[in-house]
Amino acid sequence: MAERGPHPVFELEAVRYSYMDATGLDGIGFRVDAGEKLALLGANGSGKSTLLKLLDGLIFPSGGQIRAFGSRLDETALQDEGFARGFRRRVGFVFQNSDAQLFSPNVWEEIAFGPLHLGLPQDEVEERVKDTLHILGLEHLRDRPPYHLSGGEKKKVALAAVLAINPDVLLFDEPTAGLDPKTEEFLIQMMAELNRAGKTIITATQDLGIVTHIASRAIVLGEDHRLAGEGPAAEVLADRELLLSANLVHYHTHRHDGLEHSHPHSHVEKHDHRHRG
Ligand SMILES: Nc1ncnc2c1ncn2[C@@H]1O[C@H](COP(=O)(O)OP(=O)(O)O)[C@@H](O)[C@H]1O
Ligand SMILES: [Mg+2]
Repeated sequence: MAERGPHPVFELEAVRYSYMDATGLDGIGFRVDAGEKLALLGANGSGKSTLLKLLDGLIFPSGGQIRAFGSRLDETALQDEGFARGFRRRVGFVFQNSDAQLFSPNVWEEIAFGPLHLGLPQDEVEERVKDTLHILGLEHLRDRPPYHLSGGEKKKVALAAVLAINPDVLLFDEPTAGLDPKTEEFLIQMMAELNRAGKTIITATQDLGIVTHIASRAIVLGEDHRLAGEGPAAEVLADRELLLSANLVHYHTHRHDGLEHSHPHSHVEKHDHRHRG
C-alpha cells in the first residue's frame, strides 16, 4: 500500500446531474483517497445531497463519470449483482432524514437487516448487532420500534444499521442537523474514531463549526452547482472570500457606538462585536 500511494475511493470527472426541472450539479471533478476525512460544504441547494446520492450509486450522472474503487460506477455496473453487493458492502450512507432510512419493527431487526442482506450467517449477524448496539450505547432500545424514538436516538440507530455492514466508506448528509448538543458531540466523536480506525468519512454539512472535527479537507460547492474551492479544511474555513461567494457566511450590518458597519458573519468562531476605529 505505502509504495503505491493512497488508493482512490472515488474519482469524479466533470460530473453533471440534472433533475427534470433543475440542475443538481454542473461539472464537478475531484478525488477522494482511502482514509480521508472530507467535508462537502455549500449553501442550501448547492448540490451536496445530490453529490452524496451519486457517490452512493442511488442516482447516476447525467454527464461525466464517477469511478469507485477504480471501477466505473454507473447503472450498468450496479446491475451486476456481484459488483452491487461488493459496492454496498463497502459504502454506507447515513441519510439526513432518519425517518427515510428506518423501516424495521424494532431496533434489533433494523441493525440486523444489512448483515442479513449480505448473506452473513445468523450467529455472525447476532454478533455484529450486539457489538454495534454496544458501541453506540443502544442496548436498552433493542426492542423498541425505531419510529417511536427521539431524533437523536433515530440518528444513532441509522448509524448503527450502517456500521453493522462494516463499510470502508461512510457518507453522512447533514449529520448534526436537529441533534441536541450531547448527541451531536457523541456523533462527532464517533465519526473521528471511525476515521482513526481507517474509514473514509465524507460529510455534507452547512455547519461550519463542526468542519475541523469531521474533516481534514473540504470541498466547497457554489450556488451555481460547480466547485467553488477545495483545500485543507482550516484553509477553506479561513478563506472569507470563498465562503462569502458560496453564501456560507454573510455580511451583516449593524451599529457600534453610532457607527454603521458590516463584516462577514458566520458560526465558525464567536465573533467579537467590539471594534476599534
Ligand atoms: N428531487 C428533486 N427534484 C428536482 N430538483 C431537485 C431535487 N432534489 C434536489 N433538487 C434541486 O437540485 C439542487 C441541489 O439540491 P441538493 O443536492 O438537495 O442541495 P443541498 O443538499 O446542497 O441543499 C437544488 O436546486 C434543488 O432544488
Ligand atoms: Mg442537502
